[in-house]
Amino acid sequence: MIAPDKAGIEHAGRIIQDGGLVAFPTETVFGLGADANNDRAVARIFEAKGRPSFNPLIVHLASAAAAAKIADIPPVLGSLAQAFWPGPLTLVTPLKPGAPIAPLVTAGLPTIALRVPDALLARQLIDAAGTPIAAPSANPSGRLSATTAAHVASGLSDRIDAILTGGHCTVGLESTIIGLQNDRPCLLRPGGLPVETIEAHLGQKLTRHSGDINAPGQLTSHYAPQSKLRLNAGAPRGSELYLAFGNVPEAFKGLDLSPSKDLLEAAANLFKFLHQLDDIADKSPIAVAPIPEQGLGIAINDRLRRAAA
Ligand code: TXA
Ligand code: MG
Repeated sequence: MIAPDKAGIEHAGRIIQDGGLVAFPTETVFGLGADANNDRAVARIFEAKGRPSFNPLIVHLASAAAAAKIADIPPVLGSLAQAFWPGPLTLVTPLKPGAPIAPLVTAGLPTIALRVPDALLARQLIDAAGTPIAAPSANPSGRLSATTAAHVASGLSDRIDAILTGGHCTVGLESTIIGLQNDRPCLLRPGGLPVETIEAHLGQKLTRHSGDINAPGQLTSHYAPQSKLRLNAGAPRGSELYLAFGNVPEAFKGLDLSPSKDLLEAAANLFKFLHQLDDIADKSPIAVAPIPEQGLGIAINDRLRRAAA
């Protein structure tokens, strides 16, 4: 546990800079934060939560100006940012090409979820870290979101580096998520900012996602490569490119997810390498090595199966 004084905030910021995981209070719920530009640190979030799939994460920023550096925010979403940031509102908006965000944050999507939290402590932490902070709710997968440091500790304490204490989750409910669908603002998840408040500001109704709006990650059109994937391939055939996992065949063309067969490293490289191979494959198939179905391997295999389907 780290106290929310000047020294504590600086300490927590250094842990983030060094690739560590820090749980921190926001006005909605506690977030489990890591440097959004660091592939490996982001992979550690999924490992700590025990998520069986890679849902895209919300990136937390200290100001709307910082958001404009990594995303191309369309005017209608920009007007929501101006009205409701800082606050319990997350905007899903096109990622700027070349922004240094780890591809695992967006699960390979061309859009990114952004939020400027109202909790002062959260923004002080982001400033101290000097980097955008990717953070899902700080609870193990499938459990309730945490609104106290004690909740976080009981679920995650042995899997994370620190918990920044001291803030109050005054809203107590996750942020409302708004994206664009056919150029119109669309409710992806109801949350701490009432829908009516948003609609009154826009002067129009939000469109709704049909289906289970509590699980927007399940509804987004996920990144799928152009090339066909052939999974559980011991070696490439013919002209296939190969996505290896430690066992590299002789004279192969492709990339190795982790020479030391480290699942954390493989998760950190997954989306970047899929994009790279897809770019050079010219729609010819990509063979993928078998990945062990354990730990982060479960999420990696989930993603590969969807990409192959
Ligand atoms: O209040 C909150 O939003 C808290 C605090 C920590 O900020 N965070 C939170 O994160 O609830 P999480 O990971 O539990 O939920 C994030 C949601 C996921 O359902 C994910 O699918 C959606 O945001 N999301 C993230 N990026 C997206 C994208 N590019 N497109 C669509 N949905 C996205
Ligand atoms: Mg959650």
